[in-house]
Amino acid sequence: MKKLSLLLIIAAVVIVSASSFTKSKAVKTMKSGEVSFVVPQDDPAAVKYPNGAKIYKEKCVACHQVTGLGVPGAFPPLKDSDYLFADKKRAVQQVLNGSNHEITVNGQKYSVPMPPQVDNYQDAVDVINYVLNAWGNKGGTITVDEVKDIKIVR
Ligand code: HEC
Repeated sequence: MKKLSLLLIIAAVVIVSASSFTKSKAVKTMKSGEVSFVVPQDDPAAVKYPNGAKIYKEKCVACHQVTGLGVPGAFPPLKDSDYLFADKKRAVQQVLNGSNHEITVNGQKYSVPMPPQVDNYQDAVDVINYVLNAWGNKGGTITVDEVKDIKIVR
C-alpha cells in the first residue's frame, strides 16, 4: 500500500513537471517579431514607443502587470516609481543585465531577483522610454548614446 501511494506521488510529480515543461517551451517560441501586437491607440506612450510597448507586453507584463503597479512585496511598481525616475540609465542596465539586490521603491523593500530581459541597447532604451511615459508617468526619456557604455553581461 505504501509503495502504491509513493508511485502515485511520483506519477503526479512527473505529470506536473511535464505540463510545465510544455508551457515553458511554448513561451520560448514566442520570439520578438512573432507575437502579433496592435498598438493600442488609447495609450499615448505606446503610440510614441510602439517597440517598447510591444516588448513590455511580451516580457514585463507578467511581473509588473498591465497597470504598471507590480505585485506588492514581490514585483515593484513602474508607475510612479521613485526608483525608476531617479536613474534612467540604471533602469536600462537592469533590463539588459537583470537586477539582484535589495532595492527600495516608494518606501517598500523588494529583494526578488529580476532576470535579464533584452539583449541590445535599442530594445532596452525603447522599453524604458515606454515605461517612463506609460500610465501617466512623466519620467522623461533616454537615448542609446547615453547607455552605450553599459557592458552587456550574459
Ligand atoms: C520575473 C519577473 C520580472 C520580469 C519579467 C520583469 N521584471 Fe522588472 N523587476 C522584477 C523584480 C523582482 C524587481 C526588483 C529587483 C531587485 O530587487 O533587484 C524588478 C525591478 C525593475 C525595475 C526597477 C525598480 C522599479 O520598480 O522601478 C525596473 C525599472 C524594471 N524592473 C523594469 C522591467 C522591465 C522594463 C521589464 C521588461 C523588459 C521587466 N522589468 C521584467 C521582476 C520582473
